[in-house]
Amino acid sequence: MSVVVPLDFSRRSSQLELMDTEDCGVAEFEACLADLAKVNRLTFAYRPTFAWLDRVVDQRSSTEPLRIVDCGSGYGDMLRKIDAWALRRGIEVELTGIDLNPWSRAAALKATDADRPIRWVTTDLFDYRPDQPIDIVLSSLFTHHLTDDQVVAFIKWMEATAQVGWFVNDLHRRPLPYYVFRLGSRLMRWHRFVQNDGPISITRAFVPADWRRLLVRAEIAEGAAQVARVFPYRLCVGRVK
Ligand SMILES: C[S@@+](CC[C@H](N)C(=O)[O-])C[C@H]1O[C@@H](n2cnc3c(N)ncnc32)[C@H](O)[C@@H]1O
Repeated sequence: MSVVVPLDFSRRSSQLELMDTEDCGVAEFEACLADLAKVNRLTFAYRPTFAWLDRVVDQRSSTEPLRIVDCGSGYGDMLRKIDAWALRRGIEVELTGIDLNPWSRAAALKATDADRPIRWVTTDLFDYRPDQPIDIVLSSLFTHHLTDDQVVAFIKWMEATAQVGWFVNDLHRRPLPYYVFRLGSRLMRWHRFVQNDGPISITRAFVPADWRRLLVRAEIAEGAAQVARVFPYRLCVGRVK
């Protein structure tokens, strides 16, 4: 007789994702990232990052190029959208996507016009040493890949690195999106990594109290960073200096 163990949403899961563990080829990883970009579009995932960026740029007086780094950039869809946004707003930008997996760089390069001001760097974020000052550090669907200790190190790194501010866009750990995504990703026949890892990502993600605790551990002063829920089931953390 098999016993069904109810899922525990009261704490972050440590279950590993296929995309972090399975040794697959570039075509398979690219197909996974392309489906993830479809999920991003369908779930309005870019919206909170642009709302934050708009606010930051409206307050900025400098006319120097805005240097933005996207951590765990994957397929690069966020940076391509930022490039288009900057063109619309008449802002000069220098964009860098960092990703641990070399297949991410290959997929992002292929999906990006060669004349765009975006560099793709393959490295573990924790080994990344920027060669010039960075204004803004962004990430999307990245922090849930990290352990709590790594999230604290990442917050400290963002705080030390970003001259203007930083913004984390990730998931809110709740049962409803877990079950909806599990069913929806199967119905949509998205890539098997997306079907498997999407629900796991939600169990690895955060609730507001997690972020408050992690911000204290990273020695961010109370009130200096804002934690916000954004429809549908995103949890974002932003800090403007
Ligand atoms: C779920 S994907 C998110 C991709 C993209 N940001 C998006 O929103 O679709 C997470 C990405 O983070 C990358 N990643 C995980 N750990 C990393 C690390 N320590 N340093 C850099 N990239 C990392 C993975 O290779 C993967 O491409």
